[in-house]
Amino acid sequence: MIETARLLLRKPVYEDGLAAIDLYGDPVAMEFLGGVHPRVAADPGFVVGAWLKRWEDNDCGPLSIVRRMDGRWLGRVGILVWDARTWTHTTFTDAGEDAQPELGWALAREHWGQGYATEAATAVREWAYDERGIERLVSLIAPANARSQRLAERLGCTRSETVELCDTGPAEVWEHPR
Ligand SMILES: CC(C)(COP(=O)(O)OP(=O)(O)OC[C@H]1O[C@@H](n2cnc3c(N)ncnc32)[C@H](O)[C@@H]1OP(=O)(O)O)[C@@H](O)C(=O)NCCC(=O)NCCS
Repeated sequence: MIETARLLLRKPVYEDGLAAIDLYGDPVAMEFLGGVHPRVAADPGFVVGAWLKRWEDNDCGPLSIVRRMDGRWLGRVGILVWDARTWTHTTFTDAGEDAQPELGWALAREHWGQGYATEAATAVREWAYDERGIERLVSLIAPANARSQRLAERLGCTRSETVELCDTGPAEVWEHPR
């Protein structure tokens, strides 16, 4: 669990799947994340199970972003592991030295524009470098995802090559400073 000025970042619990229905059903918020996921509304436990599986496999994964003031679930932020040879999802064990951790983020739309994503991503990045021992952290951002690019810029990231992700297509690699 990580605490920031306004947020609590913690491992997901079942109720977070219910809170995530709005985000995963919103075509605007999901535009660069593969589109809406109707399955989350039908089976909220499914998405939480998938998040927790990542923690089990990699000792890192998505964290729920909870507003401390009122306990509201705002979205998720955390580390996803890619195989840099194929840009498919993997585990540190399977990909070995080709494993590339990514810092990813998504907030329900009503919570955009308040600095929550910057606050959450800054704290998770610090955790990833200082506590989790990750050496190189990137964010993979679709070329048209202007909001996400602005966030990466605010976080001091630098843009390099474009890669082809298995699920969502072309993405620019934004490298995080240490
Ligand atoms: C990408 C995403 C997380 C960015 O959210 P965001 O709210 O714009 O980002 P931040 O939390 O950094 O907020 C910054 C904005 O809040 C404003 N803000 C207001 N109060 C603030 C505060 N106290 N501190 C900092 N910024 C504040 C800033 O001025 C800035 O506004 P601007 O974008 O108009 O310049 C969000 O758009 C999202 O979830 N998108 C859908 C999912 C997605 O595409 N994920 C990424 C896939 S790569």
